[in-house]
Amino acid sequence: MTFMPWTSELELGFEEIDRQHQELVRLTNALHEELCCPIPRREAIGAVLEGLVDYTHNHFIVEEVLFQRHGYPETPAHQAEHNGFTAKAMDLLMRFEDGEEVSIEAMEFLKEWLVHHICKVDRAYLPFLRSALAREATA
Ligand SMILES: [Fe+2]
Ligand SMILES: [Fe+2]
Repeated sequence: MTFMPWTSELELGFEEIDRQHQELVRLTNALHEELCCPIPRREAIGAVLEGLVDYTHNHFIVEEVLFQRHGYPETPAHQAEHNGFTAKAMDLLMRFEDGEEVSIEAMEFLKEWLVHHICKVDRAYLPFLRSALAREATA
């Protein structure tokens, strides 16, 4: 069974954003798959953790640029959530590099954070963004 299945609840209806969220879910599942191997490979786990840090960084910029362009009023709180994720992901990566066993903690944190953030915090910008983009299209 897939550790973190992609469900319609995670789908926001913006192609680029959904594609990026899907990639984050894919990386989370890749970490899970590696941990299910009889002997998980350290380099593979490190590569997934690094990939997540990189990819979330880019994804957060895409969302924050959209917020800034359209004046999304919840930007500071949303950005604080992104920053909280980045701090935790960096902490996990650093501890991993120091030889600590963080894989299970990372996997659980990722699933929980992504579901909460996409379904609640990202979903909250949909009405605003839809009307901002519609206004832009008719302007
Ligand atoms: Fe977000
Ligand atoms: Fe997002």
